[in-house]
Order: sequence, then C-alpha cells, then structure tokens
Amino acid sequence: MSLAQRRILLGVSGGIAAYKSCELVRRLRDLDAQVRVVMTERATHFVSPTTFQALSGQSVRVSLWDEQAEAAMGHIELARWAERILIAPASADLLARLAHGLADDLLTTLCLASAAPLYLAPAMNQQMWAHPAVQANIETLRQRGAHLLGPAAGEQACGDIGSGRMLEPHELREALVASFGGGSLAGLSVLVSAGPTYEDIDPVRFIGNRSSGRMGFAIAQAAAQEGARVTLVAGPVSLATPVGIAQRIDVRSAAQMHAAVLDAATQADIYIGAAAVGDYRPQEIATHKLKKHDGAGLSLQLSENPDILASLSAKTVHPFLVGFAAETHDVASYAQDKLRRKGLDMIAANQVGGGLGFEAADNALTLYWGDGALELPRASKPELAQQLIAQVAARYRSGRS
Ligand code: C5P
Repeated sequence: MSLAQRRILLGVSGGIAAYKSCELVRRLRDLDAQVRVVMTERATHFVSPTTFQALSGQSVRVSLWDEQAEAAMGHIELARWAERILIAPASADLLARLAHGLADDLLTTLCLASAAPLYLAPAMNQQMWAHPAVQANIETLRQRGAHLLGPAAGEQACGDIGSGRMLEPHELREALVASFGGGSLAGLSVLVSAGPTYEDIDPVRFIGNRSSGRMGFAIAQAAAQEGARVTLVAGPVSLATPVGIAQRIDVRSAAQMHAAVLDAATQADIYIGAAAVGDYRPQEIATHKLKKHDGAGLSLQLSENPDILASLSAKTVHPFLVGFAAETHDVASYAQDKLRRKGLDMIAANQVGGGLGFEAADNALTLYWGDGALELPRASKPELAQQLIAQVAARYRSGRS
C-alpha cells in the first residue's frame, strides 16, 4: 500500500472522535501521503491544532479570515491542491451544512470550491445518526456523489451502543488507498464467498458449522484494498461489511449460496470460495417444529448439496478459481487432491484446530497451484488475507500457470 505524494485534505469537525483523526494523520504519513488539516472551530475544543500541526508537519487552518495563512496558500489554492477531501469525523452539524451548500467556515467553503472527491466519515451518537434529518442529509450528499465511509456500530464514547462510531483510522486509510486504484487487482472483479451455511431442519433448527466468516471477510477487504471491485456473498455471520466492498449478498443455505455465486460469477474475473458450505441438507424442511418422541430417536434424511466450485469449473468460461481446504489431518494430500478434483487454479489449505482456523483470530495457510506451493506461516487473518491476495494477483496475472 502506498499513498506516495498523494495530496489529502483532512477536514476535522467537532466530535470526540477527532482524537482518532490524530492517529489517522500518522497512518497517512506512514504511506508518504501529504496531509493538510483543516479544522472547524468546534473541532478545536476537542483537539488542539498544534497536535495536528506536529503530526502533519504542516500548519493547520481553522478560519477563513487568517491573513497570514491566506497569504501562504489561499483557500482556493488549498481547494485545488487537494486530490481527496476526507472529513473525519463528520458531525451531524457539518453534514447538515454540507447538504445545504453552506460556506460559513473554511472547511465548508473548501468543499464547495474543490473538485476533489469528497469522503465522509460520520461520527455521532446513535440516536442522532438515526434521526431522519441526518439521514436525509446523508442521502442528499450521497446522491451528489459524496462517498460515505461508515459509520460502524458498537460501543460509543457516550456509553450508548449502536450505529454512529467513526471507522478506525486504518479503515479510513484503506478506503483512501483504494480510491486511487492502481493496486495489484485494479480493474478486476473479485467474487468472495464467506461464512457458514445453515441448512434448515424445521422452523427453529438447522445444521450449520463453526465458520465465523472472518477469513473470507478479510479476503474481501484485502481484495478491495488492491483495487478490485468486490462482491461478497455471505452466509449467516455477525460481521459488518468491510470498507470498500461494492456489493454484499446475504444468503442462508448452500443452495442460496450456490445460486448467488453462480449468478455473480458471470461478471467475475476471480472467485475465492472461502465459505464453509454445508455438504448436506435435510431432504425436506418440516413446516412445523419437530416434536420429541421419548426414546424413539430421530433419523434425518440428507441430500448432498451441489459443489459451487465444481459447478463453476465445469463451465467453459469461468473465473480464476481459488478454493479452501480446511482439514483436521493430512492437509497437504487432501488439498492437492481437491485442487485437481474440483478443477481449481489455486487452493489455500489450513489445519483446523489448535487455536487456528475456524472461530480463531489466527490462521496459517499453504497455497498450492499447478506444481507450485507456498507456505504462509501463522498470522492474523487480515495479514494472511493480504498475502493470499498478493499471490492470487500474481498467479492470475501470470496466466493461470
Ligand atoms: O470439499 P470441501 O468442502 O472440503 O472443499 C472446500 C472448498 O470447496 C471451499 O473452497 C468451499 O467454499 C468449496 N465448496 C463449494 N461447494 C460446496 C462445498 C464446498 O464450493 N458444496
């Protein structure tokens, strides 16, 4: 990832999440971006301009009426200088002023005077975020072409729990990186499946598995960071959609996932099947909750689900296919066999158990393709996802060798 010499104008409005924007400036500078910070007057009640000045290495502007600053770089020049404007945090008040085209301070004036794409990272109390006035302003700004980054759901500074948290600095940075394109998957469409599938037995019971979806979601995010247009087909998981994903399709059963993936695959250059698809489903789904018959036991008749990867590879034209093999033993031989049997371009094999794989934060993978192999040692799922995507891009570009 790089933002070398990219010119980012960071707008900071008044909200407690402004403290996170200090970290954001550091992260942007780590990637060699040029960052200039403009604060609203209210933002200075949360963080001092001196903090942003020290972190960005540039003087920070607050007022339109600062003669010295205007003499150095006028606000119109600053508006032209910016390649991207990111406002983080974007308060309810700032969103309202932007939506109405006000230019009553330096930041809102810059937004009107600049042709640079506008990225907004809202941060506010969940009740405020849900207010129809705020939602209407967001809709107006979105329709006008502003890019919305978040907000995320979770615990808030005020103690509430809900939607309105500003995205984390690294997520905002990744969105900016992706906005410039040029990654190893730039111009490509990537389809990722993630999570488990649930096969319903009756209205309250199902057969599922322990996949959390975290590996697949991390892969989708890593692909987006590398400039791909990503469609994510997700089984039942409790994960927020990663930043930069173009489309998320939620499904429940293997049959639904099969249909969604086969449909979306017609537009995809690469399919990464990270989902733990149920192999079997109950032959019939009972319309009423099954009753217990004491001591009698219960047999379920199961039918095999169609294999999504195999269905795709059977087509004459299909995307570059990457599968997963989660095994409890003999990982290498099962994985290589699956690579051939399912007609894949690459397979990522992992041992499940021992703190790795399903439900765990870490994973370790071995990649196999043609007659090549590469070990990706134990790391967090986001780190491994980035390494996996780098290898997928390299193999895809080298013509499926
Ligand atoms: O054969 P096994 O289920 O172990 O293979 C795992 C790989 O196959 C994963 O990439 C998974 O997404 C894919 N798969 C599939 N359709 C199925 C079962 C598994 O695409 N019905």
